[in-house]
Amino acid sequence: MSRSAHPAGPRHADVLPEGHYSAPPADLNTLDPKVWAQTVTRTPDGVVSVGGIDVKALAEEFGTPAYFVDEADFRARARAWRTAFGQDADVFYAGKAFLSRAIVRWLHEEGLNLDVCSGGELATALSAGMPADRIAFHGNNKSESEIRRAVEAGVGRIVLDSFQEIVRVAHIAQSLGTRQRVQIRVTVGVEAHTHEFIATAHEDQKFGIPLAGGQAAEAVRRALKLDGLELIGIHSHIGSQIFDTSGFEVAAHRVVGLLKQIRDEHGVELPEIDLGGGLGIAYTSDDDPREPHEIAKALTEIVNRECDAAKLRAPRISVEPGRAIVGPTAFTLYEVGTIKPLDGLRTYVSVDGGMSDNIRTALYDAEYSVALVSRTSDAEPMLARVVGKHCESGDIVVRDAFLPADLAPGDLIAVPATGAYCRSMASNYNHVLRPPVVAVNDGEARVIVRRETEEDLLRLDIG
Ligand code: LLP
Repeated sequence: MSRSAHPAGPRHADVLPEGHYSAPPADLNTLDPKVWAQTVTRTPDGVVSVGGIDVKALAEEFGTPAYFVDEADFRARARAWRTAFGQDADVFYAGKAFLSRAIVRWLHEEGLNLDVCSGGELATALSAGMPADRIAFHGNNKSESEIRRAVEAGVGRIVLDSFQEIVRVAHIAQSLGTRQRVQIRVTVGVEAHTHEFIATAHEDQKFGIPLAGGQAAEAVRRALKLDGLELIGIHSHIGSQIFDTSGFEVAAHRVVGLLKQIRDEHGVELPEIDLGGGLGIAYTSDDDPREPHEIAKALTEIVNRECDAAKLRAPRISVEPGRAIVGPTAFTLYEVGTIKPLDGLRTYVSVDGGMSDNIRTALYDAEYSVALVSRTSDAEPMLARVVGKHCESGDIVVRDAFLPADLAPGDLIAVPATGAYCRSMASNYNHVLRPPVVAVNDGEARVIVRRETEEDLLRLDIG
């Protein structure tokens, strides 16, 4: 596409309308390492590269929009979690953040376990060779056939989410002549400081069994009586994109309280607790995420302290980070199309994807960063809104961001920190084709999920 001039839009800080942004950064060409994958850098000619390959070459070979995942960064983050928790704990990567067979293999090689929450995720995990005993199966409404497949495969644990499911899993396991290892997911009544749609530990919601009113204790009573179940622990997941550990501390305190109650009532010390996932990442320079070793230290200390006080043997801890492992390792590469400056407001920059490859902005009011990556620019900053190509005015990828005022159709821009909950929540809205995921490592790029084609769409539509 050729570059075309466009009328001047709002450019200066003194004419900026209200929005979710701070002042324009001093230099739009600088990439904040907090929000970009580890190997992302600008080459001397100003083009951004990842894994040693520049984005112009990547766009040429794989097209846009596309997600590029930095394999070295993914492995490093997975290892950091594994090392932080050590041999006495388990790290289950939450596959809902993003799952593919390559990801499963990387996790397996790095010594992580896997949390799946549907038959599809289970099938992906098994087909890529994740040993079943390293898989945890989640979900608030697992179907009978999903449960049967999980039990038959020999998954390491099923996380029970309701009274009905306790009975259902017990029956299925018994009918298959086995005892299924299970945890019970409880809601501990913590209000996590995050978006309402991704907070999961308050009681008025669909997940888990409330500790309040003795419901969780009753669930334990029932599970302990059923021959088809081996109750190994209690599970709590308080929500997502959380930055401080205080919510986890309250959750750990309450879960250990339940373990104590179980010991006192049944004479049984459950050997495991799972504190879920939910650790936040940096989407913009304003976010300050905790490091895995800080989280591991805080969680281990609190659990040990609470257990000492209750004279309980410290259980084996497990955690389920999804976003914190894959989120920062990928960016979405788009080509700039129509640019529409609106006087006194902002400049709308349309890209060749949108809410079909990143629904998080529309759904959670999520904030993202964006940068011009196919070249540098010394032009002044312009307040931009990056929007997609869908027939919907809420089709916003980046609500408020500064891009150089000489941005033109054909430029490549990239949105960092899109590794989690972007491809995994992608849709075909408007029959837009879902982008590929390309792994880049050490000068090599490899498609791990291919781009959807019109044939794929039409194959499902059987007339
Ligand atoms: N464990 C359980 C039981 C979960 O339900 C979740 C996320 C995780 C672990 C992983 O959470 P993470 O570490 O990735 O935050 N679509 C939303 C997030 C929904 C998360 C659902 N459960 C988003 O895009 O922010």
